[in-house]
Amino acid sequence: MQTLKIDALTDFEGAVSRAAGLIKDGGVVALPTETVYGLAASALDDSAIKKVFIAKGRPQDNPLIVHISDEKMLGLVAEDIPECLSALAKKFWPGPLTVILKKKAGYICDSVSAGLDTVAVRMPDNEIALEIIRRAGVPIAAPSANISGYPSPTSAKHVFDDLDGKIDAIVMGDDCRVGVESTVVSLCSTPSILRPGAVTAEQLREFLPDIAVDKAVLSQLNEGERVASPGMKYKHYSPLTEVVLVEGSGDAYRDFVNAKDDGVAVCFSEDEGIIIPKMIYGSAKDELSLAHNIFDTLRRLDNCGFGVAYVHAPSKEGVGLAVYNRLIRAAAFKVVSL
Ligand code: TXA
Ligand code: MG
Repeated sequence: MQTLKIDALTDFEGAVSRAAGLIKDGGVVALPTETVYGLAASALDDSAIKKVFIAKGRPQDNPLIVHISDEKMLGLVAEDIPECLSALAKKFWPGPLTVILKKKAGYICDSVSAGLDTVAVRMPDNEIALEIIRRAGVPIAAPSANISGYPSPTSAKHVFDDLDGKIDAIVMGDDCRVGVESTVVSLCSTPSILRPGAVTAEQLREFLPDIAVDKAVLSQLNEGERVASPGMKYKHYSPLTEVVLVEGSGDAYRDFVNAKDDGVAVCFSEDEGIIIPKMIYGSAKDELSLAHNIFDTLRRLDNCGFGVAYVHAPSKEGVGLAVYNRLIRAAAFKVVSL
């Protein structure tokens, strides 16, 4: 299949109307959001949704997030909406917060929610994405626009590298501002964070004081253990290069990596005295910078030919928790604590 490149930076109007038209006609189109690029299809079109799963190589039982452009659409896809949502939406939408709600029967396809009776919903904070949803006039299902298991795409080039020839079009916008996927919060039972993101646990506690962080965010589940979010059981975010997550102070990390005779140190701008090759992924004091760069850094590893990457672990505070969550999966839970 020929993948059309649609440039939204030089021609916003033309790009959004072209992309919305393709989606209305059953196409699958990658587009930018503030978090990562998504692979969009109409949530009402079963055959388009199947194409999304096939292009990504995504397991059938892993449901997709439904993207909406206004709260009217919310009422079409979900029901029994808890009262707390209006305050959350007022504060965080449009933005990187996904909520799991009870699915309204008979509207979005079962394949979107992988047969569950719940649905994940978010309103992205990106004018290109919002305008495409408005013009398509339907909620849009969109997983991250990467090959399943590989680091998520934060630039149009990443999408092109993974999906050229497998999808109808790529809407090319700016690199993603946030760089990690949305925070996923279940509101179906006791509120809990299923996936951390740029909307932090600390911020959510202002609205949901008892919100829990699901066990699977930081630890590996046992074989057969029940998961609240199907995505958590799959291998994720992994470059081909082996990743080891290294927790410790600057001095301990420096001594650890300098004792290695191979590999690359993926470290903070503050890390000094490192004599093996290094790649800086941001500042330890600025978790947003780490989130912004992490997936691009993981992807670049595979072009460099290092056998192994020793990544200096961020703090688990604030947005650091989201970065840590992606890295521990990229490392297949190989963690060295110094
Ligand atoms: O920032 C984002 O959320 C991006 C952009 C494109 O919007 N999308 C994204 O989609 O990250 P995806 O498919 O890569 O991740 C969706 C996650 C998966 O872990 C999935 O299992 C979970 O959300 N999920 C979706 N529907 C769910 C449901 N009904 N119950 C529990 N988890 C659900
Ligand atoms: Mg994904």
